[in-house]
Amino acid sequence: MNQDFVKIKIILGSTRQGRFSDKIGNWVFEQIKKHQNVTAEILDLREYNLPFYDEIRNENIERFSQQIKSADGFIIIAPEYNHGIPAVLKNALDWCYEEWNYKPVAFVGYGGVGAARSIEQLRLVAIELRMIPVRNAVHILGNRYFPYQEGKVTFEELVNDHNEAIHNLIHELLWLTRIFKEARSKKN
Ligand SMILES: Cc1cc2nc3c(=O)[nH]c(=O)nc-3n(C[C@H](O)[C@H](O)[C@H](O)COP(=O)(O)O)c2cc1C
Repeated sequence: MNQDFVKIKIILGSTRQGRFSDKIGNWVFEQIKKHQNVTAEILDLREYNLPFYDEIRNENIERFSQQIKSADGFIIIAPEYNHGIPAVLKNALDWCYEEWNYKPVAFVGYGGVGAARSIEQLRLVAIELRMIPVRNAVHILGNRYFPYQEGKVTFEELVNDHNEAIHNLIHELLWLTRIFKEARSKKN
């Protein structure tokens, strides 16, 4: 088995109609394809329709759990709702535990302050899930994001500012992901 080969899931952090997370998720997906020895997939929470956390597991939760279990690392596309984590994303994180353990996670956020507050909270949650949150993140700030929403800046203009940052983030995530994939295989 090629130990260098890793699987990354790009998790879209919102499910609402008219969301932006899918557009940024697709951009991240295109960027990650430029790197070697990695397969990436977009994980869209819309396709799982997860109930609010309960003790009863249904077939959707099992499907979701399998997706998380099969991944070596994650990029979470993080919106910020009322200075916090979107509930749909927090609920998805709560549904798994061991499936997340010892797996690196990086964040890409957008909004007034690039979802900085949401991402700070996500890092704390990630630690509780025994994940390895990457210190840096890509933050698409309101001074560019809001003009984009108003049609004054194109999507390309918006993301091109962040090409170097996303490249560096993916590079660091993949390095950590390879280290922790090997470490998990040796865990007793
Ligand atoms: C319920 C709600 C709360 C929001 N709260 C914030 C916020 O606290 N900070 C912020 O920068 N943007 C906030 N916004 C604006 C979001 O940044 C913007 O709508 C973004 O596109 C949301 O991500 P999504 O399109 O992927 O759902 C909020 C949007 C919604 C719908």
